[in-house]
Amino acid sequence: MSTTKTAPATTATSGVVGPLLTAFDAIAAKGGDPKAVAGQQFAYIMDQIRGNALPFFQELRDDRPILQTPAATLVSRFRDVEEILHRETIFSVSPYLPRMMGVIGPFVLSQDITPGYDRDISVMRLVVRREDLSRVKDIVSRCAAGIVQTLFQGPGPIEIVQTLTRKVPVRLAAEYFGFAAPDDAQMMGWARACFREFFINLRNAPDMRAPAVTAGAEMLGRLDALLAERRAGGGDGKDDVMGRLLRLRAAGGADGVDDEVVRRTLAGLVIGMVETTSQAAIQALLVLFSMPDALAKAAAAAKADDDDALAGLVFEALRFRPINPMVVRVAKEDYHLAAGEPHATLIPKGSTVFALTWSAMFDPRVLEQPQEFRPGRPDYQYMHFATGLHACYGRYISQIQIPQILKPLLKLPGLRPDGVPEYDGTFPQTLRVSTS
Ligand code: HEM
Repeated sequence: MSTTKTAPATTATSGVVGPLLTAFDAIAAKGGDPKAVAGQQFAYIMDQIRGNALPFFQELRDDRPILQTPAATLVSRFRDVEEILHRETIFSVSPYLPRMMGVIGPFVLSQDITPGYDRDISVMRLVVRREDLSRVKDIVSRCAAGIVQTLFQGPGPIEIVQTLTRKVPVRLAAEYFGFAAPDDAQMMGWARACFREFFINLRNAPDMRAPAVTAGAEMLGRLDALLAERRAGGGDGKDDVMGRLLRLRAAGGADGVDDEVVRRTLAGLVIGMVETTSQAAIQALLVLFSMPDALAKAAAAAKADDDDALAGLVFEALRFRPINPMVVRVAKEDYHLAAGEPHATLIPKGSTVFALTWSAMFDPRVLEQPQEFRPGRPDYQYMHFATGLHACYGRYISQIQIPQILKPLLKLPGLRPDGVPEYDGTFPQTLRVSTS
């Protein structure tokens, strides 16, 4: 076993290093097998991101804004995260590709800027349209209000994850996308298994992959059956996302739009929608519960039907506990990040880069008083949906759907948590709430 000592990772800016980075440096200073040291460093970083993110990010931004480790380069300042995500020809989304290929095929998020990406994203823009947002809002608000009315006949406690926050996006998928499973629980299971494989299985664990492969096959099989039913019934005239896709396919006007494009577009949209929406709604609500003033403002906005104010409060709450701390890229060539700045760093070709979007949302170089809860910050300062070429295509839907799911709950008198949420891995599984 080698006992090489690894030099502390680069780019200290202040010369003074905080306790979290001192502990990180101590791992390498102890020496030992470089692979084992790299593994311990990676585990330390992931522990910090999972359990102690904001203090860790602050040390990174102040002391090592671009922290290079053998496993990944961590980028923590707002402008550097933006730079990574806007250099789509340099920083590739290829890490997603093998995981998506094995399940639903080359969905847009796994494609660098190529003719295939251009075709698939253009198809998505044609079938999921900005002018549908009022329809989306109608479906979501009707569905959420109906569920809350049925559930809350007394003071509770009532479980709201399985019944509301996972249920509403599955209903939206059925009514707006035209994609429903034989029952909603089935769709929730498919979406979760696939989402876990795409976004959480960074280490390629077979026990996460196998259920996703099965779920993906079942989803695509279900889509085949639904598409056949629509065609047989002449139902491609229906004005939902599936109907629009079938018309594009039949018109032959959009070159290369085949059944594969239709299937992976619908499957990918649903996988991208269900758990993200549920988790964001629950995490925003938990933050509001922890901030009584903000909760009171959200309740007032809900009661006054002030949807803009409500959305501002919900997405500011989510900034304190976003569902994704980062997005991952791989450098296709050597690149000088933050050129001209004191912390400029060469990112070598092949490096895996963690663009820490959560850290960016707390960077005082760009956000005013980021530690304060201040709804109504400029939209670009929110990196929940990332930025650049691959910025979330569902962000406009989410900006409506998440507040509209919470709205009928927030209207209830004395809404409060009853116990703590339970999780299935990173996904909220249960949360009970009570009213007065
Ligand atoms: C709170 C809810 C959501 C969050 C936080 C979220 C977050 C994200 C993020 C961070 C990305 C970019 C990933 C990257 O650059 O590596 C992304 C991409 C994407 N999201 Fe979302 N998402 C949400 C909801 C949705 C919904 C509801 C849909 C579908 C209706 C959706 C569809 C997509 C698609 C299609 C992409 C890929 C876009 C592209 O590659 O050009 N997302 N999402």
